[in-house]
Amino acid sequence: MKFDVLTLFPEIFDAVLGESIIGRARKNNIIQINTINIRDFSLNKHRKVDDYPYGGGGGMVMMAQPIYDAYLSVLERLNYERLYYKPRVIYLSPQGRVLNQQIVKELSKEQHLILLCGHYEGVDERVIEEIVDDEISIGDYVLTGGELPAMVLIDSISRLIPGVLSNEESYSQESHYEGLLEYPQYTRPYEFCKRKVPDVLMSGHHENINRWRRQQSLKRTYLKRPDLFNKLSLDETDRKLLEEVLEETEK
Ligand code: ADE
Repeated sequence: MKFDVLTLFPEIFDAVLGESIIGRARKNNIIQINTINIRDFSLNKHRKVDDYPYGGGGGMVMMAQPIYDAYLSVLERLNYERLYYKPRVIYLSPQGRVLNQQIVKELSKEQHLILLCGHYEGVDERVIEEIVDDEISIGDYVLTGGELPAMVLIDSISRLIPGVLSNEESYSQESHYEGLLEYPQYTRPYEFCKRKVPDVLMSGHHENINRWRRQQSLKRTYLKRPDLFNKLSLDETDRKLLEEVLEETEK
């Protein structure tokens, strides 16, 4: 999986995506993250990349040309490598579809994504019309730029790429897998601030442990995220598990 990020702040990316699991996946060449500094494509002697908005009003608008040329540089590199496909271009913006695990899964099937990070008051609409295939928001709030959202997108997609997570880190039993939240986890010591690890986890009885974990996932989703819970279609076993644990909680 390749990511090319068009940004005014390329330095931010290595700081975050050079460490830990994503850093390791990059070193192992399972994913490639390349940043392109839009400013390098300014034709202006002061390397200017923004200008006043037509029609007036506050703020500055990112000019179309440096972004377009930065985008073309990615296509030219592909051409040079004799790779003849067109990568999907995603513009990070609060106007996009709101990201969720379903969209992450869909995007993880692509072989190459180009991410465009906006700044200031926005980006000249014409370059968006010309190059962007998809607009993604990471939530209904406004950030100062698309860099954090791009990193969120890269992180969430990368961990679904085979080989990025080790078996132990595997994503099969985690929050939002199957639309359920993750069950509570414990590690040593056995007792912390007078709180003990639940007996069932100390029992070594794997069937009971799995049942308890499933039950906790159902309960958490029901209580913490009713919006996610309402999208589930539970089978009879799950319904009984949930009923049982909710009754216990009421006692
Ligand atoms: N740029 C500014 N705010 C954003 C958001 N919430 N999601 C994606 N890109 C953004």
